[in-house]
Amino acid sequence: MSQRTLVLLKPDAVRRGLVGEIIGRIERKAGWAITALELRSLDRATLERHYAEHVGKAFYEPLVEFMSSGPSVALVVEGERVVEGMRALAGPTDPIAAAPGSIRGDFGTIVRENLVHASDSPESAEREIKLFFPGLI
Ligand code: PPS
Repeated sequence: MSQRTLVLLKPDAVRRGLVGEIIGRIERKAGWAITALELRSLDRATLERHYAEHVGKAFYEPLVEFMSSGPSVALVVEGERVVEGMRALAGPTDPIAAAPGSIRGDFGTIVRENLVHASDSPESAEREIKLFFPGLI
């Protein structure tokens, strides 16, 4: 079933010059298409809405702080089972646990700086796409 998902290339990916590498991996997945893409500095209000479910967790403030530390690239990716597939391409949250071949497994360093965000369900994806690309139908 064709789906769409929201992907963020986090400030560490932009700082380290990994945007082209990561987008290349997404583009090489057969049947997937990037349908929106923007380089953007994420303000605190947007991040507070995006990460609302994590308010109160120990990592919440460090996460928002890190995500405000420089521009990110926001993308919408469409394709077959892209929600699950994009999370597999990213690898687990902790790069130490991520297998080689995944984005975090190949380039990740510490949990906070794990390079990419990918929506965790089709419902989250629709909510996040509305937040980052309100003009997109
Ligand atoms: S949870 O509680 O299982 O839902 O959390 P998880 O899915 O593992 O992570 C949710 C997001 O928080 C980020 N995270 C962190 N950021 C900074 N520091 C620490 N220690 C940390 N631990 C988790 C994690 O990368 C997830 O961000 P996104 O943008 O969704 O990938």
